[in-house]
Amino acid sequence: MKEILTQKAKEAMKSAYAPYSSFKVGAALLCSDGSIYTGCNIENASFSPTVCAERVAIFKAVSDGKREFSAIAVCGGKDGVLTEKHCYPCGVCRQVLSEFCKADFRIYVMSNGDVKECTLSELLPESFEL
Ligand code: THU
Repeated sequence: MKEILTQKAKEAMKSAYAPYSSFKVGAALLCSDGSIYTGCNIENASFSPTVCAERVAIFKAVSDGKREFSAIAVCGGKDGVLTEKHCYPCGVCRQVLSEFCKADFRIYVMSNGDVKECTLSELLPESFEL
């Protein structure tokens, strides 16, 4: 499943709309029912409305009624070219993931050479909850 998710994340990255940063990001989210939702970053001339690839993927899934997730793969790079630097989800995306995903939710962060595997609780310990 890791291979499928990483492949789909790379494919999704091609759709990134990033005319301001040129940094393209792709994400592929695995739902507990086996379905996969992809996302890319979508930038805006006013900057702050920009949405990250991970949030696009999870919002697409949640708006389709999905509520349980097991993993996400994320990749990104300038002009869509991956480098040796792994592409981690930003803090806001980690918090959004924590709304729906458990501590053991897997996050595959990709570079041009390998894929690091971590959990949501490793990337966002002591997350905010009401
Ligand atoms: N970006 C993502 O899509 N995901 C992240 O987790 C971090 C950043 C996007 C937002 C923006 O379009 C570009 O990367 C540069 O910050």
